[in-house]
Amino acid sequence: MGYRLSQHAPAEWWAALQSGARAALLSPWWAASVLGADKSFVDNPLLGSPRLNAWGLHRWRVYTAHVLAARRRARLTDLLDGMDASTFERNGFIIKRNVLPDDEFQQLRRQVLGHRAPARERVHGDTVTRHIAVNPGLLRAAPGLAALLQGPLWNGLTRYVAACDRAPMACVQSVQTHATLGDRDPQTHLHADTFHPTMRAWYFLTDVGNDDSPFCYVPGSHRLTPARLAWEHERSLRGPGQGDRHAARGSAHIDRNHLAALGLGHPARLPVPANTLIVADTFGFHKQARARRPTMRIEVWARDRPRPFLPGPTDAALDLLGLRDHRVDLHWALRDLAGHLGAGRNPWQRRGLLAPDAPSPPGLRPVPEDHSRHGA
Ligand SMILES: [Fe+2]
Repeated sequence: MGYRLSQHAPAEWWAALQSGARAALLSPWWAASVLGADKSFVDNPLLGSPRLNAWGLHRWRVYTAHVLAARRRARLTDLLDGMDASTFERNGFIIKRNVLPDDEFQQLRRQVLGHRAPARERVHGDTVTRHIAVNPGLLRAAPGLAALLQGPLWNGLTRYVAACDRAPMACVQSVQTHATLGDRDPQTHLHADTFHPTMRAWYFLTDVGNDDSPFCYVPGSHRLTPARLAWEHERSLRGPGQGDRHAARGSAHIDRNHLAALGLGHPARLPVPANTLIVADTFGFHKQARARRPTMRIEVWARDRPRPFLPGPTDAALDLLGLRDHRVDLHWALRDLAGHLGAGRNPWQRRGLLAPDAPSPPGLRPVPEDHSRHGA
């Protein structure tokens, strides 16, 4: 019996050739990314390799990143007072109520909410999230916000929790729940953003009541205990087959039963009044509670996910070029460019000039996520 070529053989060969060429081109990048912040078990076959992870690759990345972050944090303790450091070590988050005197807060709020600026929006399940860049235009329009973001409280907490001595990237974020007919917002599932210490901050301009999607955090879940490290190792053995697309791309989900197995308690639900600042290490398990009614939450939102294996910030050139306060605009431009080049979809869509509290204009469409960037 002779060997017969499949009629699909040329197409299969071409696909195999393309796949091989892609792997050859990307292999150096994948290898270098092992020492970067990449977290996806899907997009990088080295990070997602069950064999390499059985040999301890993921466990080594998690452990080493935490050791290095602890060293970086130790150099930043002078930015905090003693109570804040011990509160953070115990809980993994810090809450500051009444950040500004009431008259200063009301003025800041009027300035920020009165600022119409280029806005981006994305759909997250049934939730619409809007970002307006904190950039020189907004800082001129809202000098009260500029003073806060240049002050010691904001800079001390955000830099210490991020374990990185640089100002974080910030936006005015408006979150409208029950805004579309989509599925449940993935942010309402309990998850960790990535495999290493990373920072998120929210300075609330609106009250967040118990029914309004308050932030929830499992106290102490930021600590890399032997049980958490073993759990990280176990999940890494499944590689891309994590059973959940966000988890497969590096944002681990967990349910309450597994929390108990890790020696952790229930998530703390954190409703807060306006003029409150929350800063959290989102390696710890967290979520936004599901809103029980349509709501719009408005806050100054910031993040810093530093490169976990480097001793400090690597973006000093931004200061030299005077671009530090343009980072959000640069970030959007780069993501737009990547989208045009076919290197990833940008779900953050241009929505024209909007104030933070304006309703979402019609026409917003769900865009499949660029999952490796998940985490808010
Ligand atoms: Fe998150």
